[in-house]
Amino acid sequence: MTVAVRVVDGAATRELRRAVLRPTWPVGSLMHGDDNPQAVHLAGVDEDDRVIGSCVLLPRPYPARPEQDATWQLRGMATVADLRGQGVGASVVARGLAEIAHRGGRLVWCEARVGAVAFYRRHGFVVDGPEFEHAETGIPHFPMSRAVPGRVGT
Ligand SMILES: CC(C)(COP(=O)(O)OP(=O)(O)OC[C@H]1O[C@@H](n2cnc3c(N)ncnc32)[C@H](O)[C@@H]1OP(=O)(O)O)[C@@H](O)C(=O)NCCC(=O)NCCS
Repeated sequence: MTVAVRVVDGAATRELRRAVLRPTWPVGSLMHGDDNPQAVHLAGVDEDDRVIGSCVLLPRPYPARPEQDATWQLRGMATVADLRGQGVGASVVARGLAEIAHRGGRLVWCEARVGAVAFYRRHGFVVDGPEFEHAETGIPHFPMSRAVPGRVGT
């Protein structure tokens, strides 16, 4: 399928992120990064400009490697359920890496749900810490990271 990825206001992807990642939260809830002016929100959109994928990029220290500078967190990865497995997430991650590189980021990290670890691995992330239970969801996660293309990690 054809997917374009755009930098958007967080409001554009908020409902997708809520419905997929925090379905028990009320519609309209502020999601992660929505109150952070440094957050970069990306939307994957289809031919009709419908939002079908999302992510949020946040300049934040990586708890697993606090000494590393220029680190960005990737979060809010969500694709509309009936369009998964068609490359929407791949397009969103690729654009996310480019946006982070453009802003001088050197390392991107995420808290990966166990079910998404293979997806992140496919995009160059490695697990670099033990499994932990996410405080907000109770879902098991792994810390994962990768160097940002065009940059050499320290
Ligand atoms: C994780 C998530 C965002 C991935 O989005 P997606 O749009 O399905 O991503 P892609 O289509 O690029 O890749 C997904 C899988 O489909 C496969 N795939 C990619 N392109 C494909 C294509 N054209 N045809 C068939 N399969 C394809 C990939 O191999 C990939 O498999 P993997 O999980 O083993 O890596 C999506 O599954 C999702 O919203 N999950 C629920 C929320 C979630 O867990 N978010 C992550 C929180 S850490």
